[in-house]
Formats: sequence, structure tokens, C-alpha cells
Amino acid sequence: MTAPDDKLRSVALRDTRAVDDLLPPDPPLTGQRVRLRPFRPDDAAAIVESCRSGDIMRYTMMPDDMTLDLAHAWIERSIEWWPRGLARFAVVTPSSDRCVGQIGAHIDPQHRRAEVFYWLDARVRGRGLVTEGLQLVVDWISNDDRIRRIQLVTHLDNEASHRVAQRCGFEREGVLRSWQPTKGDQQPDVVMWSLLPRRPARHP
Ligand SMILES: CC(C)(COP(=O)(O)OP(=O)(O)OC[C@H]1O[C@@H](n2cnc3c(N)ncnc32)[C@H](O)[C@@H]1OP(=O)(O)O)[C@@H](O)C(=O)NCCC(=O)NCCS
Repeated sequence: MTAPDDKLRSVALRDTRAVDDLLPPDPPLTGQRVRLRPFRPDDAAAIVESCRSGDIMRYTMMPDDMTLDLAHAWIERSIEWWPRGLARFAVVTPSSDRCVGQIGAHIDPQHRRAEVFYWLDARVRGRGLVTEGLQLVVDWISNDDRIRRIQLVTHLDNEASHRVAQRCGFEREGVLRSWQPTKGDQQPDVVMWSLLPRRPARHP
């Protein structure tokens, strides 16, 4: 059997480098409908429930067979990996503080870019929570002078995610064919979206 750690590494860890000063914002990023806070061990059961959704399995890198043990390991890594440039926020509603999703960003100062990703529990979709949360994360990243590009990669048929991207001001750049391995043997065509928080000064 694969250990939880190996499983998380195989599906989630990218080529992360140290970003020593990356800390969860304090106070947490907060909008009218959502607050984004670091994950906590007591989010594990909610993550297991959310990850039963077929489109989270299909469109994200969350492990398909999420168990409580795996969720605990995933949360531990989520906390540990902040200094490696992997900022994972739990999406919570300000009134309940219950975790209903994730918005994350891989901050890569070496290449002066960040990549965002997200999922939401199916029971609370369609209320604009992710659109508002992603906007908060985009604004937070945009304050980092090192980052010139924020990108987002979606499956070709992920209309809900395309809408979120458009709502938050991302531009559709094009289709990348057989982009990179995702889960199992899959290597899907994807859409690349980007947003440039600060354009370099242009010379006349
Ligand atoms: C993508 C996802 C986070 C969106 O969550 P959500 O709660 O529906 O997001 P929002 O309410 O903020 O906005 C969704 C928008 O997409 C639209 N939408 C939702 N489902 C849609 C569909 N099947 N086809 C077209 N548009 C759709 C909504 O009408 C809304 O548009 P609007 O703001 O113009 O009204 C959610 O569907 C999800 O978690 N999916 C599975 C994981 C996933 O795909 N993650 C993204 C990987 S790139």
C-alpha cells in the first residue's frame, strides 16, 4: 500500500523552491462572503466529504480516494509547504468558520509568476464564493513586486472554472495540448489563462 505521504507527493508536489518569507496573511484575507485562513487539523473531515465530488476528482489534483488519514497528512503538508511557496488557503464562511473549499497559489519568484488553483464543496457552489476568494488571492499576490504573471490552468470543458477565471479578470491565452501528466495516465489538453498584475514600464 502507498503511504499517505508518497501519495500526496505523487499527486500534489510540484517543483517547489524555498520562498522563506511566505507566511499566511494576518489578519486573514476576508471578503463579504468568504474568509481565507490556513488549514487546520480539524478541517480533515470536511475535506474528505468535499472530495467525494466527481468533478473535484476529475478537475483537481486532490487525491481521488481521500480518507481521514490522507486528509490529515494533506493538511500537515499544507502547513509545512507555505515556506516552499505553496500557499493553500481553506475557504470558510465568516459565520461558520467551516472549511468548504480550497484556494491555493504556487508562488514562484524565480520565474516571477504564480499559479492559482481552487475547488469548492458541491453543496455551496453557485454563490460566488470562489470568485470572491480568488479575487482576494489575486490582490494579495499582486502586492508582491516579484510576481509579474498569475496563471491558471483549466480543463477544456470546465465551464464553471472558465467563468470564475473570466470574472476575476484572467485572459484566455490558448489551448496547451497534452500539457503535463495529471492523475494516473492522463495528460489532458488544457486552457492557459493569465493575469498580469503589474505591467513593466514601456519605453516610447
Ligand atoms: C469551479 C468551481 C470552484 C466554481 O465554484 P462556484 O461556486 O460555482 O463558483 P462561483 O459561484 O464563484 O462562480 C461560478 C460561475 O460559473 C458559472 N457556472 C457554474 N457552473 C457552470 C456550468 N456548468 N457551465 C457554465 N457556467 C457555469 C456560474 O453561473 C457562475 O457564473 P456567474 O458568476 O457569471 O454567475 C466549482 O465548480 C468546483 O469546485 N468545481 C470542481 C473543481 C474545479 O473544477 N476546480 C477548478 C480547477 S481549474
